[in-house]
Amino acid sequence: MDEITITRLGHRGDGIADGPVFAPMTLPGEVVSGKLDGDRLRDLRIVTPSDDRVSAPCRHYKSCGGCQLQHASDAFVADWKIDVVRQALAAQGLTAEFRPIVTSRPQARRRASLSVRRTKKGAMAGFHAKGSDVIIQIPDCKLLHPDLLAAIPVAEKLALIGGSRKGELNVLATLSETGLDIAVSDGKPLDEALRLALSAETETHKLARLSWDDEVIGQREPPLQRFGKALVAPPPGAFLQATPDGEAALLATVQEIVGSAAQVADLFSGCGTFALPLAERAEVHAVESDAAMIAALDLGWRRAKGLKMVSHEARDLFRRPLMPDELRRFDAVVIDPPRAGAEAQVRELAESEVSVVAFVSCNPVTFARDVRILADASYRLNWVQVVDQFRWSAHVELVAFLTRENV
Ligand SMILES: C[S@@+](CC[C@H](N)C(=O)[O-])C[C@H]1O[C@@H](n2cnc3c(N)ncnc32)[C@H](O)[C@@H]1O
Repeated sequence: MDEITITRLGHRGDGIADGPVFAPMTLPGEVVSGKLDGDRLRDLRIVTPSDDRVSAPCRHYKSCGGCQLQHASDAFVADWKIDVVRQALAAQGLTAEFRPIVTSRPQARRRASLSVRRTKKGAMAGFHAKGSDVIIQIPDCKLLHPDLLAAIPVAEKLALIGGSRKGELNVLATLSETGLDIAVSDGKPLDEALRLALSAETETHKLARLSWDDEVIGQREPPLQRFGKALVAPPPGAFLQATPDGEAALLATVQEIVGSAAQVADLFSGCGTFALPLAERAEVHAVESDAAMIAALDLGWRRAKGLKMVSHEARDLFRRPLMPDELRRFDAVVIDPPRAGAEAQVRELAESEVSVVAFVSCNPVTFARDVRILADASYRLNWVQVVDQFRWSAHVELVAFLTRENV
């Protein structure tokens, strides 16, 4: 194909030229050529590189699908991620002031979802290759914390024991204060022989916990995560912020927004990432749909010393959002919904008297949709802090500060 010029990056981090033609691992302004395969450019050649192009720090980058933006400078990625949020807000007729982005260090990820397959010689664990379901090995991965790389041989051993011949095992590995916390899915169905063999692996590899399709097979010690003064053992596979750096940045921003509020609601609270540290200064009501996560949060709070009251409820906030009269007692609300956003809850917030909102989001599009609802109810979007804990990926996370004079 003739040379074409990349005009922008898409939401997955691919370069896009007019057409549209998708060209992975390219940057805006670059002139490229290659073979057109549908709407994708393959066998790519960079004719004129961008000034923002850098050599990828990881030797696996070319093939591994784990990262999308290692060929771009940190400054470019920072501007791009902020711009993704700016454009999502603009599409809703909104503007905001942006604080400088906070980016997690390399090798900071404490959790990885590994794909594992049995092979003729044994088993192979890693990430999927770019645009394919082929697994590639990642011994020198620059994303994962070095201690997390220890999960790779464990995952391979587990596939040998409990992986089906054809299928792929998913091994979610998480670093905890007490060792590796491993949650496996898509393996063989459990029977007594498999339970016994897997339980022996918990000991061999000194795992904090091993669970298989949500059943705990072995637990040498509760896999504890520290949230401020509290230690919490999340249920297998439960949500956790991806890096300690990212979590600290999100938490510090939430704490700054909440300030000296005495009564705080933490909506979509998970296992207490924000609720438990906030309870050092305020009484907190945590709401989350997953009852096991709420139970873990509660146990962590009961065992911690020096925290104020943390009440909680397991509640589906899509179907049963907190109503304005329930919200009345809170001085500040923290809201951190999944990618779908929190439309139903935000509609009730809009009718409430809550004057301070810390809105945490991993999806700029649903975030902007929800902020539009709040803005129409006279909330002011003061600023947005973008936090990049999915370094070198196209994911964007943020905390926004909204206030309203009581009406
Ligand atoms: C992005 S996570 C945030 C969790 C927590 N704030 C943290 O930082 O660890 C979103 C949380 O919302 C919960 N969730 C998903 N759908 C929900 C619903 N309909 N109602 C209440 N909680 C829900 C998930 O279980 C998850 O814990």
